Amino acid sequence: MFSPEIEAKIEATIAKYPKKRSALLPLLHIVQNEQNKITEEAIKYIADRLDLMPVEVYEVATFYSMYFLDTIGKYHIQLCRTISCMLCGSEEIKDHLQKRLGIKPGQVSPDGRFRLSEVECLGSCCTAPAMQLNFDYHENLTPEKIDKILEALP
Ligand code: FES
Repeated sequence: MFSPEIEAKIEATIAKYPKKRSALLPLLHIVQNEQNKITEEAIKYIADRLDLMPVEVYEVATFYSMYFLDTIGKYHIQLCRTISCMLCGSEEIKDHLQKRLGIKPGQVSPDGRFRLSEVECLGSCCTAPAMQLNFDYHENLTPEKIDKILEALP
């Protein structure tokens, strides 16, 4: 189902744990990074590799907010909505992002470039409002700063 490199990575990950099922979370990450989502076929594949029922994999994949069964999008914007960020203007940032991208939290732009999510505290409360763009943090956000960040994306 995957390239030899990914298969080797999956094999090495399973081998790290005394019980196969313990590799479930890292395997979901590997598969998601490879396919930009977790497909039904991938759920069956992981279940087979870990001697689990597909529904057990599905339960975990749908429980955690970092896993996606539909396309993540090229750029995943996770905007903090917790108290410090809210007090420092995250609602204004959210409105600006919604206008710029034409999507609401939980949606992917029609061109597949952006997913907008609202998340709980990113641990960056001192520099609120904050968001995560893929693996990078952006802090002390303003609408102007958002424009610069988005315009700099390839
Ligand atoms: S409240 Fe937003 S980073 Fe902590």
